[in-house]
Amino acid sequence: METSIIRKNTSLSEEIITVLNQQIAVEAHSSATYLAMSSWCHLKGYIKSGEFFRHQSEEETVHKMKLFDYILDMGAQALAPEVQNVNNYFDDLKSILDNFLEMEISITNRFNKIAKKCLESGDFQTFSFVQWFLDEQKEEEDTARRTIEIYELIGIELDGLYQIDKAIGKLIPQP
Ligand code: FEO
Repeated sequence: METSIIRKNTSLSEEIITVLNQQIAVEAHSSATYLAMSSWCHLKGYIKSGEFFRHQSEEETVHKMKLFDYILDMGAQALAPEVQNVNNYFDDLKSILDNFLEMEISITNRFNKIAKKCLESGDFQTFSFVQWFLDEQKEEEDTARRTIEIYELIGIELDGLYQIDKAIGKLIPQP
């Protein structure tokens, strides 16, 4: 990493630029993972869940670009992420939903750590910027938990999986 380029004309510290760039990569990885989940759902006939995860994938791209633009707006270098080790194979719908919630909780933990670092280093501008992500994570976690509740409430007896798929599709925000 060429520090001189990364830090040119910016009030952001090297440490904050690094964690924000790392988060760009995490968002890109989440976007690719949700796309893989979308594909798996479509293949298995869970069309509505496939649409749901495609929407989630697009949301992660929005998050990635929000971080990217903030770094650029602050005069530092945003790094285009490499996306590796994306899992495309899943056991069943339930394991996808569990994985979804785990990923969102892990992202919340990452943003809490970023916010803590901002406070410790006196970077109140970035601290204010990450508040949007912390609010967003509350919604993302809530949605992920809801998918699991739907799965457990409906159950897989009879046409349960069909009904679960339909109910998950209804979680896609309407424009
Ligand atoms: Fe960008 Fe779902 O966290």
